[in-house]
Amino acid sequence: MIDKATVDQILDTADIVDVVSDFVSLRRRGANWVGLCPFHNDRNPSFYVSRAKGICKCFSCGKGGSPVNFIMEHEQLSYYEALKYLANKYHIEVHERELTDEERVAQSEREAMLMVNEWACQFFESQLRTEAGEEIGLAYFYERGFSEATIKRFRLGYSPDDRTALYRAAIGQGFNRELLFKLGLCKDDGHGGGFDFFRGRVMFPIFNVAGKVIAFGGRTLKNDPAKYFNSPDSLVYNKKDSTMYGLFQAKREIAKKDKCFIVEGYADVISMHQAGFENVIASSGTALTEGHIHLIHRFTNNVTELFDGDAAGIHAALRGIDMLLAEGLNIKVLLLPEGDDPDSFSRKHNSTEMQRYIDDNEDDFIRFKTRILLQGAEKDPIKRSAAITEVVKSIAVIPSPITRSVYAKECASRFGIDEEMLLREIQKYINKNREENYKRRERERRRMEAGLPANEEPLPTENNSEAPTPVAPTPSKPARLAADASQLVLRQEENIIRYIVKYGMCYLCDTEYDDGVKRPTSVVEFIYNEMSFDSMQFTSPTYAKIYEIALDSLKDFYQDLANFKEVAQAEADEQLVEELQKIDARGHNADSLKKEEEKVQARITANMASKVNEFSRNYLERRLCSHLDDEIRLTALDMVSEKYQLSKIHTQYATIATEMDRLLTLVPEALYNWKNALLDHQIKQIQSQLKQSTDPEAQKSLLEQLQQLYVGRSEIAKYIGERVVNPN
Ligand code: CTP
Ligand code: MN
Repeated sequence: MIDKATVDQILDTADIVDVVSDFVSLRRRGANWVGLCPFHNDRNPSFYVSRAKGICKCFSCGKGGSPVNFIMEHEQLSYYEALKYLANKYHIEVHERELTDEERVAQSEREAMLMVNEWACQFFESQLRTEAGEEIGLAYFYERGFSEATIKRFRLGYSPDDRTALYRAAIGQGFNRELLFKLGLCKDDGHGGGFDFFRGRVMFPIFNVAGKVIAFGGRTLKNDPAKYFNSPDSLVYNKKDSTMYGLFQAKREIAKKDKCFIVEGYADVISMHQAGFENVIASSGTALTEGHIHLIHRFTNNVTELFDGDAAGIHAALRGIDMLLAEGLNIKVLLLPEGDDPDSFSRKHNSTEMQRYIDDNEDDFIRFKTRILLQGAEKDPIKRSAAITEVVKSIAVIPSPITRSVYAKECASRFGIDEEMLLREIQKYINKNREENYKRRERERRRMEAGLPANEEPLPTENNSEAPTPVAPTPSKPARLAADASQLVLRQEENIIRYIVKYGMCYLCDTEYDDGVKRPTSVVEFIYNEMSFDSMQFTSPTYAKIYEIALDSLKDFYQDLANFKEVAQAEADEQLVEELQKIDARGHNADSLKKEEEKVQARITANMASKVNEFSRNYLERRLCSHLDDEIRLTALDMVSEKYQLSKIHTQYATIATEMDRLLTLVPEALYNWKNALLDHQIKQIQSQLKQSTDPEAQKSLLEQLQQLYVGRSEIAKYIGERVVNPN
């Protein structure tokens, strides 16, 4: 754990231009710097870096953010690792939180184990170059078609067919035998010595994401029924979620292609890399776990699993994928021709052929599942209904409602059933899943309260329990504006969010609340008041999240602002005294002295006000533009760095100045337009219902609703602005 002061120091010190320049050659353009984007194949420079804002952004692929985000993305590091990287670059001493004694022992044991593994890896690599190693191990790799470069890249090796070769060498190096046992490199012989676990096998080191050797797989070259031996779980290796084979070598390409292939075995990964497909990793023959999926999710949303084209392969393809769907990943499957695995296939075909095969045969998972389950079930109603249930279950775990509805539509037509019915069925499973999750969490919570060890993942933080209440309560109006998306409505939402991202914490006006007291109100508070008055909600989940973050930041903001003002005020006072002394020293007559003093006073006050403004304006923008959630960060980045703004900083200041001056007109207007769009949308919906309706009772009620909506529309204009008391 890095302590907060260090984190702040790192963030303050890191210069975005400097950080990016280590990887991208930048040219100056106006107030900004531009270069070729390192995150996609960029032909014209679309990567912009703004030193003033401390952010970078690609206008083509959209990636970017703060120096930390850049390093995380470019070097594929975790937040913690990226901070360490920057600390190292700027020679900042990292203060880690004090470890407990237990943690310290574990930490040093872990480091010692990693050291032993690294040494063992080098040992196996060097053994591959001995006479026996070349004859047996290297010959085997060559026979499999692995090139020298591949062997080096994956650091393949050979463990001599000798009971104690590694054991003796390790002890000779002074390594602790207990560590050799814990790592599974050697076994205790019961007489104070040890023998090698992997003897006579070719060695595949397994790396963690940062490239440290955490385990080994060893393949037999004989007729041993145990084809592979693998290191046991240890302090440094947890088969279920430490890593996936090949991830260290594949991660950059996975992020760049925004896609990842999952295969079964070591050889599959290596052969595909060699064939030019570097975004490949393996589950090493085990079922994917949630840990694996989180790991993949760090690099991409798009996963294609490769399977053999035989019955077993198809069966495997249908198993375990719901877990990937539930994680919000886009899953495709690719069946290889019967009798082939990725290893054999990629050695038989060149990369163009392979790419063509992928393009032609890659199948969306839900579509694949539907197709497979429907085979032979077309005429059998029982099988068909079982198939529908299976597909519905898969759709129900997908987190995005939009994706779900797209699939529902497609499956309804594929199965030839009513879409509404399918949606209802899906909803049933969603509710069921929700209930199960809830129960599971409750169980977990009770266990924790009872002081029992948790046997599942930690509790998700409940962030919906406390609704944020900025300032004062506002009256709520009964008429509800439905949160029903249409393109027009979404555009208006976007507009509002843009004001929040760019100016959320800026002072907008004073508002009179129910208790009769006027209070200063920021842009986001104003929007909050208006939205709750009309019970409005954002339909876009990303916008809703940004809005929530803004509201959550309010408390911190006012606290930080108070501190900032205090410091700024002290500075202003000091400056005032200094300047007044200078004026006095010049000894003008009393009258002109007073005038000059007033002028200085006014200048310093204005200066301070603009500093406070600047602080308020940057506050939320910084938080959002360096947020760790990609969707939030990239959306915010998009909003603050429209191209012309970043490239022409002078016009930028002009634009911002005027936009900022006009917020009191612009924000209510934006709210007005949003409400209007919502009302229009509802009016249209009711009108179309009216057209279809034949029942006079229903018609009457629809007409009444319509009437209400018309009234609502004419009243909107009045609500807005009414509560604006004191524009300044
Ligand atoms: N595996 C294992 N232990 C075994 C068999 C398999 O750990 N006894 C894991 C290995 O990670 C292996 C993967 O499952 O890479 C896939 O198994 P398999 O297809 O049998 O192995 P291949 O990788 O195809 O190995 P090879 O081509 O060398 O036979
Ligand atoms: Mn194989």
